Amino acid sequence: MSHPVIAKGNVAVITGGASGIGLAAAMAFARAGMKVCIADVDQTRLAEAATKLSSVTAATHVMTFVVDVSRAESVKELERAVGAHFGGTDILMNNAGIQPGSTLFGEPDNWQRIIAVNMWGIVNGSRIFAPSMIARRKAGLIINTGSKQGITTPPGDPAYNVSKAGVKAFTEALQHELRNTRDCHITAHLLIPGFVFTGLTAKGRTEKPAGAWTPEQTVDFMIARLEAGDFYILCPDNDVPRALDEKRMLWAAGDIVENRPPLSR
Ligand code: NAI
Repeated sequence: MSHPVIAKGNVAVITGGASGIGLAAAMAFARAGMKVCIADVDQTRLAEAATKLSSVTAATHVMTFVVDVSRAESVKELERAVGAHFGGTDILMNNAGIQPGSTLFGEPDNWQRIIAVNMWGIVNGSRIFAPSMIARRKAGLIINTGSKQGITTPPGDPAYNVSKAGVKAFTEALQHELRNTRDCHITAHLLIPGFVFTGLTAKGRTEKPAGAWTPEQTVDFMIARLEAGDFYILCPDNDVPRALDEKRMLWAAGDIVENRPPLSR
């Protein structure tokens, strides 16, 4: 089976496309004959990624763009540049993300940046690209990369959890809106990777930990679920259902947040 939008001559734009899951997606789309624009804040990695892409497709089918997804103006420039270069976008993968760590009250205070990149990046990309994608009256995909942490909200790194919960809520709203827009052939999808071995999660490790997926495995799974028409692309190597079950039991027992005794001082 193959997805009708992941097709020769169509155009894919991938933010955070210079490494990890984004680059693996760009490679897969390029192998399928698509023209790809990888957009990333890291210019050096972009150049390296373009070289990799050129090993699987013609250099004329590869575009790089330096973007900061947290800034709407920068994303607008990206949208204009892709339109001018490739004539439009068939797949937008809003995938750029950071996870520098956060605490509720302590330092360093990464809250603004984490929410700006992870959540606003996805909002900016979707809101800026969707109108021109819809206007083409062609089938298209908007894939937003969320995280299981946006659903299960485990303790630790609250800013990342909040940013990814925002990605989930926004993408659900986007899907609803696109479905209810006349003559719109664009569908939205929420990718929820499991534990993927990338620069984001390596944290000094050079070997893939047991159980972690490669970016390529994640993208293969994503494409299979897109072909099946899933909205939630929930990679199976994660514990979302179990974590939600546990949370439900805690809620039922009244044991989340409000019924806990205060910490002793
Ligand atoms: P990665 O670090 O390899 O890729 C992220 C890319 O985003 C980098 O190339 C980085 O330069 C780029 N980026 C960062 N800030 C940017 C900005 N302001 N504008 C444009 N580009 C920017 O990490 P990975 O793992 O491939 O992450 C991709 C997405 O997957 C992220 O949204 C991440 O939160 C999400 N994710 C990753 C998981 C994992 O286990 N690796 C698990 C769940 C979600």
